[in-house]
Amino acid sequence: MDKIQSLTGMMDLIDYKSDDHDISSKIFETEKKLIKIFTNYSLNEIRTPALENEQLFNRSVGGTSDIVNKELYTFLDKNDKSISLRPEGTAGVARSIIEKKLDSDSHRLWYMGPMWRYERPQKGRYRQFYQAGIELLGFSEGASEFEMISMIISINSELKINNAIIKINHLGNRDSKQEFCNALRDFLEPFKAKLDEIDLERLKKNPLRILDSKNSGTKKILEKAPQIKDFIPQDSIDLLENIKGAFPNNNIEIDYSMVRGLDYYSGFIFEAISDSLGAQNSYLGGGRYDQLFADLGGKTMPAIGMAIGIERIAEISGITKTRKNLVSFIILSNQIREKAYKIAHDLRAFNRDLTLEVQLSEGSLKSQLRRANKNNAKYVIIVGEDEIESNSVILKFLHDEDLDQKKLSIEEIGKFLSLI
Ligand code: HAM
Repeated sequence: MDKIQSLTGMMDLIDYKSDDHDISSKIFETEKKLIKIFTNYSLNEIRTPALENEQLFNRSVGGTSDIVNKELYTFLDKNDKSISLRPEGTAGVARSIIEKKLDSDSHRLWYMGPMWRYERPQKGRYRQFYQAGIELLGFSEGASEFEMISMIISINSELKINNAIIKINHLGNRDSKQEFCNALRDFLEPFKAKLDEIDLERLKKNPLRILDSKNSGTKKILEKAPQIKDFIPQDSIDLLENIKGAFPNNNIEIDYSMVRGLDYYSGFIFEAISDSLGAQNSYLGGGRYDQLFADLGGKTMPAIGMAIGIERIAEISGITKTRKNLVSFIILSNQIREKAYKIAHDLRAFNRDLTLEVQLSEGSLKSQLRRANKNNAKYVIIVGEDEIESNSVILKFLHDEDLDQKKLSIEEIGKFLSLI
């Protein structure tokens, strides 16, 4: 019979190798570190469903984005309702806050989970990938822009990411955005015959997206195109300069040609990139989206957020696997299993940060010690008939040959475990 395989672009993550560079373990470790940083920044968790009405993404991420146009996983459910797997988290968060009538309050939120985009898989680009997202809701432009960049810098430092560049830009306000789009349209009008179908569509629906064109001909034409910098208000330029000034020595670059691939952005936008990633070099991105809540039928709610690509950030992170404080527990004979298990159960309660691994397969003491060594245990606790008789255990130090093994009472071993 044919073997069933995973779907293209969808990875299994299994933490089983002791190797520091194993991507699965790095991903799990990265997630733990990110959650710590989120708490450090006073964010609260939100979880929304992976499935939403398809309409949600049309009305938020937008009809001109590749994400909605080409990459959405959409199907009809048993009730003929058009359902999509979420390609990102912001739309679901906004939907949830509006639905729960929480849109008059401010919120600082984080989430983490799988997202789906039907993209052409390549290094760093998957069809199921994980994002950690942050949304600061109810805060107008100002301090929250600084908070976002501060968080990126903390993430870079905690995850030991070197040589990253943080690119920032500003899309101005509604009027200036409109003026810039008109100017872009006017400029491109004589070149229409040279644009490909995708760029023509962008020009019609959202000319800003043309700045993201991958077509080398379009790129060449755009070299002489109007610049957003000449249209956005001075306040926006000042904000960019102030943010750059507030965090010197952190590779913050103002890039007036940067645009984002989602339609809901309205003001300050940013991305962090690293050359070590290859073609898919952006490991996080975000920006302000002050119109989204109103567009989705909620109250007007200023908002800013970002999402981190977990696979990509783990790839460039210099963190290593934290070694478990591992104690291996060996039961010498089946006859005493019941009583020995009770001891193992009670010992675990002495220190919940400890990993106490009861050896589950039978074998000689020699083979069980070999297994403990292989699993990198620092200590071994051995329980045989004598120990059960005297309500004690044997403690052996695997990594310290100078220390003899000792017989300890349950109380003594409990105390020892609570201190390591
Ligand atoms: P995004 O730029 O579409 O923004 O995605 C954020 C990050 O997710 C990217 O920088 C990248 O690291 C990662 N990513 C995207 N697609 C893939 C893929 N196919 N495979 C692997 N990683 C990928 C958003 O999703 C917005 N929701 C961010 C945001 C939150 N804006 C405001 N709030």
